[in-house]
Amino acid sequence: MKKSIAVLPGDGIGPEIIRQAVKVLDAVASKYSHTFEYRYADVGACAIDRTGNPYPETTHEICTTSDSVLFGAIGDPKYDNDPAAKVRPEQGLLAMRKALGLFANIRPVKPYPSLLSASPLKDSIVDGADFIVVRELTGGMYFGEPRGRNEAGDKAFDTCVYSKAEIRRVADVAFAYAARRRGRVTLVDKANVLATSRLWRETVKELHEEKYGDMQLDFLFVDNAAMKMVSNPRDFDVILTENMFGDILSDLAGVINGSIGLLPSASSGAERSLYEPIHGSFPQAAGRNIANPVATILSAAMMLEDAFGAVEEGAAVRNACEKAIADGVCTPDIIPGSRYGTEETGDYIVRQIISSGK
Ligand code: IPM
Ligand code: MN
Repeated sequence: MKKSIAVLPGDGIGPEIIRQAVKVLDAVASKYSHTFEYRYADVGACAIDRTGNPYPETTHEICTTSDSVLFGAIGDPKYDNDPAAKVRPEQGLLAMRKALGLFANIRPVKPYPSLLSASPLKDSIVDGADFIVVRELTGGMYFGEPRGRNEAGDKAFDTCVYSKAEIRRVADVAFAYAARRRGRVTLVDKANVLATSRLWRETVKELHEEKYGDMQLDFLFVDNAAMKMVSNPRDFDVILTENMFGDILSDLAGVINGSIGLLPSASSGAERSLYEPIHGSFPQAAGRNIANPVATILSAAMMLEDAFGAVEEGAAVRNACEKAIADGVCTPDIIPGSRYGTEETGDYIVRQIISSGK
């Protein structure tokens, strides 16, 4: 097959982890006789530096005219420490999610057997955990209006807004995943306090009765869900939740895997999908060859499977990552004192793909 891929490395460790994922895609292309055309574009702080806009029109154009999008990370400390900055790199990511209509973010969590001890949690707790977080991505407090400051500048507000239609379309995605898994959706909310959460409960219940009666639906308050995630993660199959809760809970889920550097994600909409690691730009590690490239490489595997239907190729990438981890070839975040850096880990995974049977 022949596919065009918009490649958005972004900031911090973005370029170096994306380089590994592209190497892996090249290996897949040569082994399985595919052609991937990479179309590079800027987003985040690097785009602000070049154009003043964190999500330039040219980048949007490249994303909408490519078959899929691979994204690294954005963020730069020079903006984090300047609350008065008018443009921020994160606005680029949010604008991109909104403009591309990426309303559902899928974050799978499943610890590697050989890595159980990398989690600060007891093996007996993380062993056998296998769940996905379906996070709503284009609504809630991230986008609600009004937002900002009052005139005196001494009060600030963010607004959480959800419509039934927004809730239904992402809930459909969660039930579809559950149907292919253990058939159980847990809606995480704060319905004891928030009106939006009560709308979520009502809407998801209705949808369940209408279309998904054969599946199990349960509800959990977000504070309780956070506790359960680290005390009994096996109890989850598909977690469905709104934007902000999903952001927080999916970082917490990184603890179960042993490193947030291992968790990929897919952000999907009606027309296209974007694949990105769940971690951020980790500026302290930029250029030091220590960032874990596995989350980005696994995001590319999700792209192969979901966007291109290349199931065998996706599995080959996944197996190669597992092999690298089992062989102790990965970055210091999961292998303390490791002599393998970002590049070496990428190279090893590439070699596994090339030498694997077909
Ligand atoms: C994520 C990130 C982003 C988010 C930031 C960088 C805006 O933390 O993808 O989880 O909050 O969605
Ligand atoms: Mn996050």
